[in-house]
Amino acid sequence: MKFFIDTANVDEIREANAMGMVDGVTTNPSLIAKEGRDFKEIIAEICSLVDGPISAEVISLDTEGMVSEARELAKIDDNIVIKIPMTVDGLKAVRLLTAEEIKTNVTLIFSPLQALMAAKAGASFVSPFVGRLDDLSHEGMELVEQVVEIYSNYAFDTEVIVASIRNPLHVLESALIGADIATIPFSVLKKLAAHPLTDKGIKAFLDDWKKARK
Ligand code: G3P
Repeated sequence: MKFFIDTANVDEIREANAMGMVDGVTTNPSLIAKEGRDFKEIIAEICSLVDGPISAEVISLDTEGMVSEARELAKIDDNIVIKIPMTVDGLKAVRLLTAEEIKTNVTLIFSPLQALMAAKAGASFVSPFVGRLDDLSHEGMELVEQVVEIYSNYAFDTEVIVASIRNPLHVLESALIGADIATIPFSVLKKLAAHPLTDKGIKAFLDDWKKARK
């Protein structure tokens, strides 16, 4: 399974990259706004750090606006993937951009039929949001299971990026289901590497080592 990092913070991307855990990056307008820097400048810097798909999201809500923003963003780097919201206008934009060989990631997917439509429109990636469904007492991972099954039934090439990941279990379940990608916040990525028995074991080994040297 590929690990993307869900952040626009270049320090986090650098550290996760040094761990060998960054196959790609996803950003969204909220994550970009948190950085307080120019959008295109951040995206260009991320592209210089990571050799993999980098998602940058459009702000327009109409097809024409989305397509023109997408064309500008796509000029930044060959690895740019345009994040498009899952709307009727969004689907039209995906179709046009796909014809221009610009990659797309259809975001804010909350139902399997939305994911089916995005794939039919030609999306390169879809992003089902598991955490936000869990927040409403819906099983976010059930959505991922259904999307993976539908894509496998019809051999769609669209890759599933599990998004809105909030904890390590979301990553584990994504891997067990066979989702292509999990896009993981840096805080969750660090939790994946940690285990209290690992820490306890290291401490015990070092204590024994020191005792034997007295
Ligand atoms: O990038 C989209 C997604 O991962 C957002 O996550 O935690 O804001 O629902 P969250």
